[in-house]
Amino acid sequence: MERTLVLIKPDAIQRGLIGDIITRLERKGLKLIGMKMMNLDEATLDDHYRHLLDRPFFPRIKQFMRSAPVLALCWEGLECVETVRTLCGTTNSRKADPGTVRGDLGMSVQCNLVHASDSSQTAQEEITRFFRPDELFSYESVTDAVIYSSDERG
Ligand code: PPS
Repeated sequence: MERTLVLIKPDAIQRGLIGDIITRLERKGLKLIGMKMMNLDEATLDDHYRHLLDRPFFPRIKQFMRSAPVLALCWEGLECVETVRTLCGTTNSRKADPGTVRGDLGMSVQCNLVHASDSSQTAQEEITRFFRPDELFSYESVTDAVIYSSDERG
């Protein structure tokens, strides 16, 4: 099974949308294996958004991400990275499909409620950035037998 990193961003925290967002991912059948509220520091954000360093909005996105705590979540499931990205919707919330987190709840590119890893390799790096190994929980999910077929469970 694959893992991915989701950050519930400051706008969603301020708007009281934590429960709604987590419920969507839980109801999909994904397994929550880590959860941590944190204030992000400059160094973590410099690292996390280093691919955006030369973008004009780089200082703004960092300021926004420090405006309130974020909630870091680690999810596990079959093809989890792509599945979570689909559930989140496209970056620009105004253009995101109905039924997605951003499509249903957002109006902004910056205040787009969630960050989700964009590949399996990025997910591994990002999970390590936000969680120590002892903050992640391996456990048997009793619902896996009715969420996946036996061949999908592997
Ligand atoms: S981009 O522009 O192709 O890099 O876009 P994308 O990879 O989808 O977005 C990466 C993150 O940058 C944020 N973003 C912005 N913030 C503020 N202003 C503007 N114009 C802007 N464009 C993109 C976007 O919310 C993404 O944040 P994360 O946390 O990665 O979801």
